[in-house]
Amino acid sequence: MSDEASPPIPPAAVEGTTLPRIAQALNIGGYARHMLLCIGPDCCSLEEGKESWDYLKRRLKELGLANGPVYRSKVGCLRICREGPMAVVYPEGTWYCRVTPEVCEAIIQEHLIGGRPVEEHAFACNPLRMAAQPEE
Ligand code: FES
Repeated sequence: MSDEASPPIPPAAVEGTTLPRIAQALNIGGYARHMLLCIGPDCCSLEEGKESWDYLKRRLKELGLANGPVYRSKVGCLRICREGPMAVVYPEGTWYCRVTPEVCEAIIQEHLIGGRPVEEHAFACNPLRMAAQPEE
């Protein structure tokens, strides 16, 4: 995992709201990986998407990873729209196709826990890079 500190959040953006407390409850700022899973309906059926999403949620909870080192998000489209359920895991930016519960388990064990992308189920990679900071 990266040792880089998170960029500061401008206080004016959240002053007077409950957002900082919600972010704290969700461990935003403290997780190591973020998995976004598309549940269809264009890349897969909604039933297939729901099955994978329910599996991911259940397993992360069982393994004590939810809202800890792993943050998960259910999304409606990742703009690939075929061969889903589609997923992407950051910070590596590893894109996965056909994320059935079985593939989901491999991603959990090998990538989310083990730190190694599951190459046999990945089809693209786009690690995020920090934008250059303006000179002071
Ligand atoms: S509907 Fe899943 S990628 Fe578009």
